[in-house]
Order: sequence, then C-alpha cells, then structure tokens
Amino acid sequence: MQQYLSKVYNDFIREQGTWCKIPESQFSNSQYRKYDNKQYTESSIEQYYLLRFAPIYLDEYYEIYFEFLKYYDKQNIKILSIGVGAGLDFWGFADAIVHLNKTMDIDYMGIDLIDWKYRLQDIRFLQTSLDDLTYQDFNNFTHGEANVIIFPKSIIEINEESIKKFAYFIIDSLKDTSYKAKDIWFIISYIKKGDKVSGIDKFKIIYDIFLENGYIINHGDINKWHESSDKDFKIIYPIDYKNSWMKNIKQYCSSKCNQVQISKCNLVGQYPMLKKKHIAYGIYQFKK
Ligand SMILES: C[S@@+](CC[C@H](N)C(=O)[O-])C[C@H]1O[C@@H](n2cnc3c(N)ncnc32)[C@H](O)[C@@H]1O
Repeated sequence: MQQYLSKVYNDFIREQGTWCKIPESQFSNSQYRKYDNKQYTESSIEQYYLLRFAPIYLDEYYEIYFEFLKYYDKQNIKILSIGVGAGLDFWGFADAIVHLNKTMDIDYMGIDLIDWKYRLQDIRFLQTSLDDLTYQDFNNFTHGEANVIIFPKSIIEINEESIKKFAYFIIDSLKDTSYKAKDIWFIISYIKKGDKVSGIDKFKIIYDIFLENGYIINHGDINKWHESSDKDFKIIYPIDYKNSWMKNIKQYCSSKCNQVQISKCNLVGQYPMLKKKHIAYGIYQFKK
C-alpha cells in the first residue's frame, strides 16, 4: 500500500493544476455520494479519493473477506465485484486468503462504469454499467459451483431501477440449467457516517426480489450489519499525511479556483479516514 499510495501521491502533487475539481466532487462534500458517477474520470478526484480512503477501505475489505471466509466452505470461488474502482476489495481478499493460509480456485471479475487509472492491473475487468451487463458476459463468468457478488462502497451510487434489473438478471442466470450452484452470496460494504448506515435500502431491493422468487435467506439478516470489533482502532497511514498536503488543497482552492469552487473549499477534508468506526457491511446468502 505504501508503494501504491506514494505513486498516487506523487501524481497528485504533479497534477496540482486540476485540484479545483476536488471541492466540487462528492468526496469533499457532506452530501456524500449523491453526484454523477462520471466524476471518477477526473484523475485528481481519483487520487484524492484513494489518498483519503484507500488504506481504510483496504482494511475493511480484508475484514469483510476474513469474516466471509469463516462461512464459505467451498474450494472454488467466483467473485463479481460491482463498481470495482481500483480493485481494493480484491486486494483485501488476497490478503485474507494469505492470512488464512487458504488454497482455493479463484476467479474474480470487476466491472465498473469507469476504468480507473489506478486500478490493479492483474484483475479481470470489464468496463460496463451494471445495467448493460450482458447474459453472455455474466454467464461466461458464472459457470461453476460458487458465486459471490460484492458491492464495495458502490451500491449507494447505483439507482433503484438498475438494481432491480440486476436482481432479476441474476435470478434468470441462476435458472440456467448448466449452472450447478443454487445458492448465491452477496457482500455489501455500506457507507457509515456517525450512526447512519447508508445503502441498506438499496440492498433491500435485491433481498425482496430474491425472496419473492422462492429463495430463502440462509445467512445474514437484513436488519443487522457488521461493524468492526475494534471501532476505536486507528490504522497506520502508510505515507506522511501530517506534512500538510491536504491542507494545501484548501489553500490552493481559495487562491486559485473560481467562485463556485471557492464557496466549497471548506468542504475539502483535510485528513484521511483512519478509524475503523466507519466500517459497516453485510454478508448474505440466498438459497433455493
Ligand atoms: C465509491 S466508488 C468505490 C470504488 C471501489 N469499489 C472502492 O472500494 O474504492 C463507486 C464505484 O461504483 C462505480 N459505479 C457507479 N455506478 C455504477 C454502475 N451503474 N455500474 C457499474 N459501476 C458503477 C463508480 O464508477 C465507482 O467506481
């Protein structure tokens, strides 16, 4: 992570000329995650996002998969990561596997509207919106005995209609006679701010559609979510952030940006997210 983030950081400093986009992005705004998803095409926003959140999200994904692998007892696994971004959840998964000393047949594919500049290059990736995922793409991938779908911090950004369509799409694919598994796991990494957990309403759409279609919930509870067992724990940030680089964005913002952007300079977060109290996720299994 240190090496990865140092590269992001160096690019971020070099591309200072584009910092004015940051105050307008959702990541510096308290109206978190209500904006157009296309913002990730801006490399400075991607950099800012990763510098603030990558270490804590990696830690969260590691925790999630570590917990998940306690229940998942098959030898092979096929993970579809929706809104994969840079692929941090794959990284967390790989760390959990290593830590648990597990050997598995692993297949992983990430999809995203945007091909992130800082995406891990060794993961299988398909640039598409969830709405446009074809049966062919999905079916090629899911033939096998296991199936896990993860939304790593992405469900909140996807609109209800797309989620509904996707739930029916999955149910249809599971009807495929050549597909042996009759169970499916969903892992949802929610957004937690204070006591508020966002995204559960979106997952409830999938949950209801599965139950209406004859599935039962075999693991997980829609009314509960996991939190970190060590909420006060602060992770160690892998590069030097005290050296005012985030404060510099504020100064830059008020001296170089336009009026609209200047009015939002105060929203620019000065610190990376480090506390595990922000972790909230759900692990669910449906079975027929
Ligand atoms: C907050 S980012 C999370 C990125 C990454 N999973 C992480 O943990 O850092 C949400 C991602 O969801 C993607 N996304 C949003 N709507 C989408 C859709 N309809 N189909 C595919 N990806 C989508 C965005 O492009 C973005 O990369």
